[in-house]
Formats: sequence, structure tokens, C-alpha cells
Amino acid sequence: MSDQSFQIRTVTPASALRGEIAVPGDKSISHRSIMLGSLAEGTTRVSGFLMGEDNRSTWNAFEAMGVAIRQTGPDALEIKGVGLSGLAEPGDVLDCGNSGTTMRLMTGLLAGQNFFSVLTGDKYLRRRPMKRVVAPLTAMGARIWGRDGGERAPLAIQGGSLAPISYASPVSSAQIKSAVLLAGLSVEGETTVTEPHLSRDHSERMLAYFGAAVRPFAGGVSLTGRPRLVARDILVPGDISSAAFLMVAGLVTPGAELLIRNVGINPTRSGIIEILTAMGGSLDLLNIREQSGEPVADVAVRHSRLKGIEIGGDTVPRAIDEFPVISVAAALAEGTTIIRDAAELRVKETDRIAAMVSELGRLGGRVEARPDGMVISGVEQLDGGTVSSHGDHRIAMSMAVAALSARGAVTIEDTGCTETSFPGFWEMIEEIRNA
Ligand code: S3P
Repeated sequence: MSDQSFQIRTVTPASALRGEIAVPGDKSISHRSIMLGSLAEGTTRVSGFLMGEDNRSTWNAFEAMGVAIRQTGPDALEIKGVGLSGLAEPGDVLDCGNSGTTMRLMTGLLAGQNFFSVLTGDKYLRRRPMKRVVAPLTAMGARIWGRDGGERAPLAIQGGSLAPISYASPVSSAQIKSAVLLAGLSVEGETTVTEPHLSRDHSERMLAYFGAAVRPFAGGVSLTGRPRLVARDILVPGDISSAAFLMVAGLVTPGAELLIRNVGINPTRSGIIEILTAMGGSLDLLNIREQSGEPVADVAVRHSRLKGIEIGGDTVPRAIDEFPVISVAAALAEGTTIIRDAAELRVKETDRIAAMVSELGRLGGRVEARPDGMVISGVEQLDGGTVSSHGDHRIAMSMAVAALSARGAVTIEDTGCTETSFPGFWEMIEEIRNA
């Protein structure tokens, strides 16, 4: 867990970055493969699974509810599904670690299971808002208790029978949407969720892939409850949110040329490609194909002169995890970048607006906070120095990317957190700088 693995790393400037690499599996899809694989009838075989700490938390939770999950290769699993009502009451508290996806999706799933369960997490997750899922689930009839009137974990859930809902989420959030849909699995009838802008749709895609009746429509999605989920094999694509660090590293490091293989380019996740292209970045999508219901490509990246742009509206949820590294690109672009409509960044693993303003500032970056975003004025080059990850994996990796083209070495404090989403990140940076 990130608060148990304090580590310091120093990243020196790179003279060029070269190579062909593949990033680890998609975190969101890996979580869902365990959840739906467990609820399906039959054996689900997953390959390309992300063996990171967040997904480990989901894995442990389902094992604690009686699901047999076996590792069959370095990134391969076999899940013996127990069916929609086959989970057993866990004998102990379920620890979601740093993973908001584990906690929020499982709250939805557990609300409709006929037993008692308690979810907790690390000190970062216990600070994050949970009412956003507790409120719609309570409206379905769920019984959930938490600190601050159900806002903060630990959450205690007395599962039982629920009523269908048509929920208009005020926030564009795949975690809210998925929590309600997973609760809807146990309900007789239609569950519908709408949101201001479309958030990642991996839950909908995988539910349909396992045989559920899922109907996406403009502005939302409906699901027919009590489906028969049938086990399928899943090939998880590389995580575009992990590839984003390498894309920006390739764009801002002089002389860089990288080929990132097997990247998921689901349109609800590909905002980073549009943003970096609009900034003048050279990114080419090659060999576009489909894999287990998800689009995939290889991404070729070349060092480019970037310029500032304005980012807001429906692009924001489609690039929500990429703003720390987008702010690094913007800090090195010519002109000003304005990021708006992104207040959600304040409730991620840490307040990512405050964290990037403070840490890029320590390297001479010119970044100003706004309540819902940042205004970033590009500089020619960042300075070396000492920065902190704030215990957040994406801040740690963003600062490593910033370091690659800085004037001097950058020491990053508290880097153990990168294990949550990108095991092997530091080794991959070493590999491409020496190629
Ligand atoms: C995720 C949804 C997003 C994202 C998170 C993973 C998911 O969160 O930031 O890293 O797998 O559903 P929100 O739904 O809170 O935007």
C-alpha cells in the first residue's frame, strides 16, 4: 500500500529516449474482469491483467467472498465464477487499499448481496468522498453506514433486495455509474444512469460481453437486472493512462522516438491523444484493432514542439487521470494552457490541482490553481530539485517525466505508490533512456 512504502528516487536528465515498449494492462478493465468473472457462470481466463496493488485489492476481496482465483502466468488469471448470487459473506473487513474503483464499485455490488460486509482502505482512500455512490444506492433501498453520515470509509453494508432506479448523476464518473449498474444486476427490472458527459464505459462493454442486456443511449445507459452472465476469455489491453506518461516523455524529451505497443484507445479514454495532438504533438496510431470488445492500437511518439491550448467540457472525463502529466506537457509548451471543468481532480488519490501547482512550482514551472483547473504558462526548461508525490502514483510518475528534460536531477519523495498502477515504471524509464 502506498502509505507503507516510502521510497526516494532521483531521475537525471535523459539525452534521448528510444525503444519499443508495452505498458502493463488497463487498471479499470482488470478490476472489472475480476468482478464480472466472479459473478459469471463458468471459468473466465484473463490475460494482460494488471498485477498492481489496486487490482490486488479487488482480487483479495473476491477471494475473501469465496471465489477461487488462480494466477496462471505473469499476467494471467483464471477465475471460477460463482454466479450472481454465489458470493459468500466475508469473515473480515475488506481492505480496498488505495483503490477508489474497488471501494466504489464493490459498494454497489455488495448493496444487493444478502449479507453484511465492511469496506476500508488506506489513509488516502479513507479521506475520499463516498456519498456520491452511497446516495443513489440508498435511493435504491440499500443500507450503508460510514463516517460523516456515509461520506467516508470505512463503509458498512447490510445487503438486501433493492429497487430499480433511474439516476441522473450530477458528476461524470464511471465509478458512480458502475456502482449503480452493479447494484442493478441484483434487481428485477431496468436500472438507468445518466451523466453530464460520457465517462469511461468499460463496465457497460464488459457486461454486454458477458451477456447482459445493456443499452447505451445519448447521455446514459440502461441495464436489465438479473442477467445470466456467462464466463468469457478476456485479453486486457495496455493502460492508456500508463502509456500517457511515455507519450508525454516522448514528446518533451529532445531526440525521443518511442513505439508504445498494445494501448487501449477506447474513445471514452482517448482524450489524452486528442489533447496532445492539439498541442502539436506527433502521435501516430498504428495497427488499430479490436480485442475482447475494446479498441487497441500501437502508438508512435516523436519529440515535438508543443503549444498551449484550452481544455474543458466533454474532453475532461475522457482524460481525467491524465491531467497531472498533461500539466507537465503544458509546463514545457509555448504559451498558456487553460484547464477548466476539472474540479474532480481535487478528489482523486490526492488533490491533483494543489499537488501539481506545488510540485511543478518547485521546479520553476509557472502553474496557477483555479477551483476547477489550472492555468499553466510554459517555460523553456524546468529546473532540477526535490519534489514529493503526495502519495499519489500519477503525481510520482508525472514528476519523473518532468525530470527527463530538466536542467538538473530531480529527487522524488514517496515513490512506492507507483506500484498501485504501473509496476515496472522506473525500470521502463531506465530501459528507454539507455536504448
Ligand atoms: C475509474 C474511474 C475514474 C478514474 C479512476 C478509475 C474506473 O474515476 O479516475 O482512476 O475504473 O471506473 P471517477 O469515476 O471518480 O471519475
